[in-house]
Amino acid sequence: MKIVDRMNRSLRDLRISVMDRCNLRCTYCMPKEIFGPNYTFLPNDKLLTFEEIERIVSIFTSLGVEKIRLTGGEPLLRKELPTLIQRLLNISGVKDLSLTTNGVHLGMLAKQLKESGLQRINISLDSLNPDIYGKMNGKNFPVSRVLHSIEEAASVGLKIKINMVVQNGINDLEIIPMAKYCLDKGYTLRFIEFMDVGNTNGWKFDQVYPNKKILETLQQLMPLEPVEPDYRGEVAKRYRYKGTNQEVGFISSVTHAFCTDCNRARISADGKLFTCLFASNGFDIQSLLRDEKLNDEDIKSELYNIWNNRTDRYSEIRNEVSKLSNKKKIEMSYIGG
Ligand code: GTP
Ligand code: 5AD
Ligand code: SF4
Ligand code: SF4
Repeated sequence: MKIVDRMNRSLRDLRISVMDRCNLRCTYCMPKEIFGPNYTFLPNDKLLTFEEIERIVSIFTSLGVEKIRLTGGEPLLRKELPTLIQRLLNISGVKDLSLTTNGVHLGMLAKQLKESGLQRINISLDSLNPDIYGKMNGKNFPVSRVLHSIEEAASVGLKIKINMVVQNGINDLEIIPMAKYCLDKGYTLRFIEFMDVGNTNGWKFDQVYPNKKILETLQQLMPLEPVEPDYRGEVAKRYRYKGTNQEVGFISSVTHAFCTDCNRARISADGKLFTCLFASNGFDIQSLLRDEKLNDEDIKSELYNIWNNRTDRYSEIRNEVSKLSNKKKIEMSYIGG
C-alpha cells in the first residue's frame, strides 16, 4: 500500500535512531559544553527493543517503506547491532538497509556487520588533518583511527560513503584533500551544508559553506558531470568524475531545499515518530507498541493518519520561521539526521 501526505509526497524511507548517546562531541552536533557529564540521556528501558524495531519496520513496509537507515547518536554503541541488521534484512519489503556511523568502533565491527548482510555504510569524516578533526569531534579523537576503520570496512567488502559537513573557516581548506583522498580510495564523498538542526549547535548562516562553491572548485580540479537520481527524493545531488564511475554528492539543505520530494520518516531511540528533521514534537509510537490492546492493523492506521496529515517543509520556509520564532527543535543526536 502506498500513502501520500498533504503535499502528495509518498512514504519511502525510514530513519531509525537506535541510541541517543555518542562517543564523540562534534561541535556542530553535540557541543561538549551542553552534552557534558550531567546531560541526561535515555535510560535503557526507554530504548526500543529489537522486537519493537522489527515490528515497526514490518508495519512501515506495509505502508510503502523500502529503505531503512539506522542512526544514533552513534549506532555502533548499541549492543548486538549486527543481530538487529540481520533481523531487519529478513523482512520482505526492506530493499535497502544502511547505517550512518562516526567510524570509531567500525574497525572492530566491520566483519560482523558484513556477515550480518549489510552491504554499505556511511561514515562521518570532516577532515584528514589531525588537529582540525580532533577539534571538530570535541574529544581530540585521532583521525588515524577512523581512517584505519574505514580501510577495514572497505576490505571486508562494505561500500563506503563519506559524509563531510563543511563549515566556513573551520574545515573548508580540507575540501580538496578530502576529494583527492576519496577519489584515490574509491569512496563516494558527500559534502553536507552545515544545518540549523536543534537548538544547541550555535548555527549561523555565515558558517554555511555553499555547496555550489565546492562544485565550482572541484570542477576546476577535475571535470564532473551530473548523474540522474536513482529515485524521486534522493537527498544528495550526485555527480561523476568524467570518464570514471567515481561519484561525489552534494547535500544542500540550506541553499537548495529538497522538501518538495521529501519521503522520509524518522523514529527516535525511544520510539517517537517525527515527520521532519526540524520538528518540535513527535508521535509516541512506543506507547502504541507497548499497548497490548493494539494489533498491527491498529498501529498501521495510526501511522497512516500521521503521514496523511503531514505538511512539513522546514528548509523551504527556514528564513520565515527562524525570523519569527524561537522554535524548539529536536537535537541531531536524538533523531540521527
Ligand atoms: P544514502 O541513502 O546513502 O544517500 O544516505 P543519506 O544521505 O540519506 O543519509 P545520511 O545519514 O548519510 O545523511 C546525510 C546527510 O543528509 C545528513 O546530514 C542528514 O541529516 C541529511 N539528510 C538526510 N535526510 C534529510 C532530510 O530529509 N532533510 C534534511 N534537511 N537533511 C537530510
Ligand atoms: N548539519 C549538517 N549535518 C550534520 N550532521 C550532524 N550534525 C549536522 C548539522 N548540524 C551529519 C553528521 C552525519 C550525518 C548523519 O549528519 O556528520 O554524517
Ligand atoms: Fe556523534 Fe555523529 Fe553527532 Fe558527531 S555528528 S557528535 S559522531 S552523532
Ligand atoms: Fe524533509 Fe523536513 Fe528535511 Fe524538508 S527539512 S527535506 S521536510 S526532513
